[in-house]
Amino acid sequence: MELKNKKVLVTGGSAGIGKALIRELLAQGVKDFAVIGRSQDKLDALKDEFKEADFILVAGDVSKLADIKRLVETVGEHWGHIDLLINNAGVVSADPLQDMTDEDIINQININLTGLILLTKKALPLLLKSEAAGLMNISSGLGYIAKPFYSVYAATKAGVRHFSEAMRRELIFENIHVMTVYPTATDTDMMTSAKVNEMDSPELVARKSIEGLLNKEINVILGGEEKIKNIATNFNRPLEIDKSVKENYDAYKERTEEHRAM
Ligand SMILES: NC(=O)c1ccc[n+]([C@@H]2O[C@H](COP(=O)([O-])OP(=O)(O)OC[C@H]3O[C@@H](n4cnc5c(N)ncnc54)[C@H](OP(=O)(O)O)[C@@H]3O)[C@@H](O)[C@H]2O)c1
Repeated sequence: MELKNKKVLVTGGSAGIGKALIRELLAQGVKDFAVIGRSQDKLDALKDEFKEADFILVAGDVSKLADIKRLVETVGEHWGHIDLLINNAGVVSADPLQDMTDEDIINQININLTGLILLTKKALPLLLKSEAAGLMNISSGLGYIAKPFYSVYAATKAGVRHFSEAMRRELIFENIHVMTVYPTATDTDMMTSAKVNEMDSPELVARKSIEGLLNKEINVILGGEEKIKNIATNFNRPLEIDKSVKENYDAYKERTEEHRAM
């Protein structure tokens, strides 16, 4: 895929991994970005940070149907098509299930999964108008290996993984490359309240994601060989992962106690 002059829609492009993706794509010759995020201030700051880019900025919430429709209509009016849709916006709330508020359960599902699916549906006619399109969905390592206290978040990210896989097969005769990115702990605002020592940089995640897109990879899994090995173990011998969780249960609980970025 040649990225120069492509039209790219990034959800949650105003911070973290989404913003790093914009920086990486700019370096690859992309100029036109559409970005949705809830905070107008964070969106406006993009124009100062990336002066060479042309932005369509839409203040809105990917879990709200009216905002999704407004976004797609605006992009359609300006560009007439979309070359790359990056479904990146996401939130997290960690807690034992019984302690999690009903709102955090509903909102994680609506933002991370339902909104992503609805936006993909509404954006598809514009993606199909591209000569060579891409659909990049940002899942998480927790979409492969679920961990305690992330039951709802992990469920949404496993949902993204399966949605992506189904869409890849559904669109097999179309000119749309469908891929999924699985970041591990990454140093963004989302992780400020989590107690994690070692994290990837958002720039690394962005670079690997775009490399994956250019190489037509279907899955970009961060976390190195260790993560690939653990995914295989989780699939083939899940009780081994259970055993390790049991041995480290208190540490898991302690690390996630305050983790919330909604
Ligand atoms: N950081 C990690 O360790 C990690 C690991 C694995 C996967 N991921 C995934 O990577 C993606 C990006 O995460 P990040 O770490 O970059 O998060 P982040 O730093 O918190 O940034 C999230 C971005 O999404 C936007 N956003 C959040 N909710 C939204 C909504 N309802 N509608 C529209 N925009 C919304 C935010 O802007 P507003 O707040 O202004 O709306 C912000 O621009 C997420 O899907 C996350 O689950 C992250």
